[in-house]
Amino acid sequence: MNAPTPSLRGLDLLAEIERLRRARNAVILAHYYQAPEIQDLADFVGDSLDLSRKAASTDADVIAFCGVRFMAETAKILSPEKIVVLPDMAAGCSLEDSCPPDAFRAFRQAHPDHIALTYINCSASVKALSDIIVTSSSAETILAQLPQDQKIIFGPDKNLGGYLARKTGRDMLLWPGVCIVHEAFSETELLKLKAEHPGAPVLAHPECPGHILDHADIVGSTRAILDYALASPSETMIVATEPHIIHQMEKAAPHKRFIGAPGADGNCNCNMCPYMALNTIEKLYLALRDLAPRVELDEALRLAAKKPLERMLAMAGGTVGKGDVGRPVFAGD
Ligand code: 13P
Ligand code: SF4
Repeated sequence: MNAPTPSLRGLDLLAEIERLRRARNAVILAHYYQAPEIQDLADFVGDSLDLSRKAASTDADVIAFCGVRFMAETAKILSPEKIVVLPDMAAGCSLEDSCPPDAFRAFRQAHPDHIALTYINCSASVKALSDIIVTSSSAETILAQLPQDQKIIFGPDKNLGGYLARKTGRDMLLWPGVCIVHEAFSETELLKLKAEHPGAPVLAHPECPGHILDHADIVGSTRAILDYALASPSETMIVATEPHIIHQMEKAAPHKRFIGAPGADGNCNCNMCPYMALNTIEKLYLALRDLAPRVELDEALRLAAKKPLERMLAMAGGTVGKGDVGRPVFAGD
């Protein structure tokens, strides 16, 4: 799937990407779940909220988004005058797939007294049907600003929604979507790993199901997990999210040991996001060279999707960067 494109053999792809980045006045944004070689050449690596803020504020002419489609779409919604390219347009997300716009519209219509608080991992059409967008790092801050008796639909991630409901005591109607990556962690294997490494804290993303979060010492967005990993005095940590984030941890704290939480077969490979993996250095080079594949959105749809995204940016507070993505949430808080 990711073999080098034959016609590119012999090219120094890293040098070519560097040349094109300058020639195009492009910024390369990457999520923590991208392959290490992509993270290493990006101008900015971040979680979903930081990447949205960066996309909204960049003065580049071209955004090369190394992440999945809903992230690149978000960049285009917030920065319509920029060319936004995604190295592989097939880079979707199981959460987006779980939530077709027509079904979501019908769900909303069936609950007219509820507002829709929607996870950013969804299509532009579902964003356009939502009141406020949230990311895993901004959801709690935003929820705290809504009246306690406000009825809320939360979609499409039932695990994040369930975690927020338990943490805040809110009664929310949950859309039944899941992230296939975080669903794959095995509680049995995690408990075995914890027994092998007594005292090693478990760092988990709230897209994990409750039976994994029950064993977590910190639950947070990718950025919050990274911040915790670097600040913690622990020498060994168990990481229950997509394992490519471990690259940043190992770079910043090479003396520490970060162990990816296992899937059911005891091997964490099943926890690699297959959508994120579609982006490669070769495809990034082609995207910068050809300015394609490009994210294009109908203007009416873009404007409708922009409203709930702008509410998120206003309500989340803070600015891009370390420490701006919400206080880590400790299990048992
Ligand atoms: P965050 O980077 O916001 O924690 O999201 C994780 C994720 O699954 C992105 O698809
Ligand atoms: Fe979607 Fe899960 Fe992949 Fe994130 S890790 S892009 S939520 S499938």
